Amino acid sequence: MNRITDLERRYVLDVLDGQFRTSAGSAMTRRLEERFAATFGCRYAISFINGTATMHAALAAAGIGPGDEVIVPPLTMASTAFAVLHAGATPVFADIDPDTWTLAPASVTAAITPRTRGIIPVAIYGLSPDMAPLLALAARHDLFVLEDDAQCFLGTYQGRVVGSLGHAASFSFQSSKHMTSGEGGMITTNDAGLAERIRRFNSLGYAAVGAAAGKGKITREMIQDPAYERHTSVGWNYRLPELCAAVALAQTERLQELVAVRVRAARLYAEAARGCAWLTPQAALDGYGHAYWTYVLKLDGGGAFTWYDFRAKYRELGGDGIYAAWQLTYLEPAFRGKHFAPQAAPNGAMPADAQAYEPGLCPVAESLQPKLLQFKTNYWDASAAERQADVLARTIAYFGS
Ligand SMILES: Cc1ncc(COP(=O)(O)O)c(C=O)c1O
Repeated sequence: MNRITDLERRYVLDVLDGQFRTSAGSAMTRRLEERFAATFGCRYAISFINGTATMHAALAAAGIGPGDEVIVPPLTMASTAFAVLHAGATPVFADIDPDTWTLAPASVTAAITPRTRGIIPVAIYGLSPDMAPLLALAARHDLFVLEDDAQCFLGTYQGRVVGSLGHAASFSFQSSKHMTSGEGGMITTNDAGLAERIRRFNSLGYAAVGAAAGKGKITREMIQDPAYERHTSVGWNYRLPELCAAVALAQTERLQELVAVRVRAARLYAEAARGCAWLTPQAALDGYGHAYWTYVLKLDGGGAFTWYDFRAKYRELGGDGIYAAWQLTYLEPAFRGKHFAPQAAPNGAMPADAQAYEPGLCPVAESLQPKLLQFKTNYWDASAAERQADVLARTIAYFGS
């Protein structure tokens, strides 16, 4: 089995054979969006150049901007918070649950201020947050819920596919993700008005675009008319190129197979680590289907050995690189000690309840992040995954389970 097959090649050639004629329109993009929407049980899917632009557009289309706050988790990739800043709003960090490592509803509640307008729950490593309490909270406070599912394809929550739970969901097709077109992204939503605003934002504010794939409201007569007004709002050009859409279409058609590769590897690691007292997996409770973008274990060696010791031994025994979790976003140099509160008074004074991006903000995440070991799951060759799981078992045996 390979990540890229003849199907991807065939669709790319179809695009090239079309000579990029405008009459060919955006046929691949349309097919991709229709297939993606059907796969995720949503009415609309809007393709993007990446999974950061997606969130920028969705927040802007939801009317979120300067003066507003959006609650995000710190254990994610910085794009979750960057997108809030790109929309002109302020990211506010809430802590995570110590077992599931996803947004803790109680911490979200505590982070709500009169300026809060949205929440971005992140399905970190492929596991959905507990969405029911977050959605209830959002309904109570009239908040926009944008799922960041960059790492979660075909994950499930209470029997529903992740990506259909909030007001909108964002996916990434960056090269490390379950499905890829090198770079790329998608927004799903069931809200027609939101979908249309998102697509307009992604397409230079063009008047002609509609919510649904390829359903522009334009005729040749109209665009040839000197009086035609094209741009109804300020927009970005965040569109996914047709060549990438061709690859992403094939990957969407093969998505179950692509996800199954990762789940298979994760099960092997889980088996190898079962019963080890000092390694704990992310808790996927009943009713959750984990998509395992990566398989992650929390190492708590009780001081007998460190994260670095474990990694060195794992590699020495033939293991591939283990990745650490990203730094918590608010501790990255781009954020730490800074203020992004656009509602600062003219004299620069911050509102008394503005969040400071400093150590101590999210204690659960701060304790967890340095302990995480991320194991690769994208092994197309089953025996390679088995070898890695075997190395994990031998590393555990070395330190004593
Ligand atoms: C959780 C999360 N959100 C957002 C992104 C941003 O996606 P992209 O790289 O496509 O901009 C990524 C991955 O890169 C991610 O892992």
